[in-house]
Amino acid sequence: MIEEFIKYTDSYKKYGEMIDLKINHTFRVKDLCLEIAKSIGLTKEGEHLAELCGLLHDIGRFEQWKRYKSYKDLDTIDHGNLGVEVLRNNNFINKFSSDNYDTILKAVKYHNKYKVPNTLSDKNKLFVNITRDADKLDILYLVSKKTLGIKTEDSKMSKKVYNDLLNGKLIKKSDIKTKADQIAVRIGFIFDINYSVSYKIMKEKGYIDKIIDNQIEETNNEELKEQLLRLKEMSRKHIEVMIK
Ligand SMILES: [Fe+2]
Repeated sequence: MIEEFIKYTDSYKKYGEMIDLKINHTFRVKDLCLEIAKSIGLTKEGEHLAELCGLLHDIGRFEQWKRYKSYKDLDTIDHGNLGVEVLRNNNFINKFSSDNYDTILKAVKYHNKYKVPNTLSDKNKLFVNITRDADKLDILYLVSKKTLGIKTEDSKMSKKVYNDLLNGKLIKKSDIKTKADQIAVRIGFIFDINYSVSYKIMKEKGYIDKIIDNQIEETNNEELKEQLLRLKEMSRKHIEVMIK
């Protein structure tokens, strides 16, 4: 299955190094999916399916970059939906695995949505949730090491976004008003994680602390610094609670 994926993505490499960014992200997400699957005791078959969902979750990214030269869904296209289209058009899943067709499509489609519909079957929901956790963990990794840098400049978080976070709510994209709000979205990931092992990884790697510390270092806005320190406290407590 990896060979098929590499063959497919190789044909997009001519569109530049932004393609590599997503290929590398994909392989890390695939490994994280496996780690999560193991932690919850899935069978070998389940582990394999989790890896497949990770491998294919961002398959729409390559076509998105080719068409729009952008990864911004809001300005271009929803890359989860595009991924489903790509898989259907290329008859990809039959090449990868003829079983579990629907589960893989759902994992691709819903990995990036604000909410997962509760109409999904238990099996589909399981693999959607694994993929979502793995994807978020790798995004936090990238932001923490500044690969996906967010420059807050001197902005602070908008009141609604900041208060939503303190109250444990996920940030809606439509509420994002300032650059600092984009940091809030990443911190808000801690309220949308499904498995204890994901919280453990988050804590061990110190992703949230790193993201917050980097921002505190970079900003001159005292109010933002204070907001960030309070959010650091809050997120540490939340992660501790969720690990237990
Ligand atoms: Fe994605």
